Amino acid sequence: MTVPTELPPPPLGSFASDNAAGVSPEVLAALVAANEGPALAYGEDPWTAEMVAAFRDLFDAPVEVLVGWGGTGANVFGLASLLQPWQSVLCTDTAHIVVDECGAPARFTGSAITPVPHVDGKLEVAAVAPFLHWLGTEHHVQPRVLSISQVSEMGTVYSVDEIAALCDFAHANGLLVHLDGARIANAVVATGADVRTMLRDAGVDVLTFGLTKDGAMYGESVVYLRPELAEHARFVRKQAGQLPSKARFVSAQVTALLADELWLRNAEHANAMARRLAELVADVPGVRVPRPPEANSLFVQLPPEKIRPLQDWSFFWEWDLSQDMVRWMTSFATTDDDLDRFAAGVRAVLAG
Ligand SMILES: Cc1ncc(COP(=O)(O)O)c(C=O)c1O
Repeated sequence: MTVPTELPPPPLGSFASDNAAGVSPEVLAALVAANEGPALAYGEDPWTAEMVAAFRDLFDAPVEVLVGWGGTGANVFGLASLLQPWQSVLCTDTAHIVVDECGAPARFTGSAITPVPHVDGKLEVAAVAPFLHWLGTEHHVQPRVLSISQVSEMGTVYSVDEIAALCDFAHANGLLVHLDGARIANAVVATGADVRTMLRDAGVDVLTFGLTKDGAMYGESVVYLRPELAEHARFVRKQAGQLPSKARFVSAQVTALLADELWLRNAEHANAMARRLAELVADVPGVRVPRPPEANSLFVQLPPEKIRPLQDWSFFWEWDLSQDMVRWMTSFATTDDDLDRFAAGVRAVLAG
């Protein structure tokens, strides 16, 4: 293996993940402001009321919202509030809930999480349909929820029509639709769709509305677009250990990001950085970009012997080594200088 001795300085920012970034200054300011005086715990505070009002305004609907400590926890209690132990969730075989959450959704729901072959990271009606064959037969777990990730784990983005088709299909078969929106802001700006159209009107029932990767410090929200589905959700959240006692600090972050569309501006920046990174490495010999970035991640194929030296210089995650595929992620905090340095390092390592 040839490892070049002379490499340019690595970027200050990280391309490992969008949650390697810090926190939006506006969020930090909101945390400081929320630190004024005492407030009742467990969400009985003015910041939480304001956060719920902000979501109702965003969706122009009487949604229910419960915050939790993080993305996995939000997926866990969001799903657990929809399921009985004999029921199951259908999701792609690349979904975070089945690959990256250490089995937490299956353990806390008591329900099977059934992986369905993905198409470019997405769930498709044709792929799901065969899994409904045993609906109504007592020997088999009963599919109750379709769960999709928007943005998908493969960096692809569902169109509004694709989400609506899945929702129509699910509802026609007595299923609900859960959406893991860890990167919902990136998807909204990528499609140019209005969030009401993409989620409420398309028919999504419950979603994790993620903001941690978009400038928050911690904590995620579960939004029940059909409020009646939240009937038992508070109990489920508490049992799952996801009720933050000082909930005001999560709520204040959410409100700060929703205000003045900061959540969308942050995502717009992150997505634009991924597009620019794709341009910068497009002509580097040995780099193959199978698909232009749709949101804030770039999946590239590299000569396998170059992956480790490049990671040692500036760390990123391998994604699918069967295809020599790695993932580079940008965030609201990525700078032009980060991009230039990273692209220069890629060029140097691949030339070495
Ligand atoms: C698609 C997806 N869902 C959920 C999460 C939430 O994870 P965490 O529990 O680390 O906040 C992530 C984080 O990487 C993710 O990529």
